[in-house]
Amino acid sequence: MPHKIAVIGGDGIGPEVISVALDVMRAAGADLDTTDFRLGGFRYLEDGVILPDDILEELRKYDAILLGAVGTPEVPPGVIERGLLLKARFELDLYVNLRPFVLPNGHEFVVIRENTEGTYAGEGGFLRKGTADEIATQGSVNTRKGAERCIRYSFELARSRARKHLTLVHKTNVLTFSGDLWDRTFREVSNEYPDVETAYNHVDAACIYFVEDPTRYDVVVTDNLFGDILTDLGGAVAGGIGLASSANLNPERTAPSLFEPVHGSAPDIVGQGLANPTAAVLSGAMMLDFLGDSKTAERVRLACEGVPGSGRTEEIAAAIYANLVQGET
Ligand code: IPM
Ligand code: MN
Repeated sequence: MPHKIAVIGGDGIGPEVISVALDVMRAAGADLDTTDFRLGGFRYLEDGVILPDDILEELRKYDAILLGAVGTPEVPPGVIERGLLLKARFELDLYVNLRPFVLPNGHEFVVIRENTEGTYAGEGGFLRKGTADEIATQGSVNTRKGAERCIRYSFELARSRARKHLTLVHKTNVLTFSGDLWDRTFREVSNEYPDVETAYNHVDAACIYFVEDPTRYDVVVTDNLFGDILTDLGGAVAGGIGLASSANLNPERTAPSLFEPVHGSAPDIVGQGLANPTAAVLSGAMMLDFLGDSKTAERVRLACEGVPGSGRTEEIAAAIYANLVQGET
């Protein structure tokens, strides 16, 4: 049975990198039945559609969603991000955002970012907007259940890995409410995983370690906003954002999970053949893994090893294909 995949190429370089990802996965042997969904900033500019509920319901029928990038400079910030990407993450309850990194020295570690709460929940508002007395608040929503399920997933993942090490990253010295909830939950859940070694870093210190000493990390768990920022940094230290892949997971599989490169739509290079497709290809490998096709996923991952970190899209794609063919012989 083919995997039924909803494809959202999206904006900017999204369609360019997704087309390579689909070609590579198929060349590696993946059986994919894909349906294109025309969604993104471009669609919003055409007819005002972002992600209406009927399309969301349609997406639920697929095994997985593969997304390129969404957002375009012609649409004000937040409209497409909140209306499409965050709506999908929240409504499909994709509470784990898994972002693996492989450093130039071969060390591999993974960040788990809570994906449905925190400042991303959108709590807040304006008072007296546009006046000299304007007030803007932006709250952070942290539920015990939300933190616990994400932390529990992280302990399970850490337990399944060779090193069995899990670091909580937060800012407990300043965020004494949400930090306290996360820290307490982390400690309580850790009692159930005596085989997993734990550590805690404040997020500012973690930024230094990500750059200077990332080999200390095996699995890292953190909240939504810290995870957003930290994973861009992770991408930068692991050879550039053009290599960074991610999975937005609904671990209970009550809805399809969504796979996307960490990078954005990069409107400055759209259509020039300069987008690095590797992050999208590796996101495809994460998708195949989650769908149970780990053999093909591994073939795709191996094919991405040692390909140039930058260059023309077609050259990088050709290097990936060459590795695929070599892997077969
Ligand atoms: C990411 C992106 C998104 C986020 C944006 C596009 C809303 O930066 O996936 O990291 O902030 O989560
Ligand atoms: Mn980000």
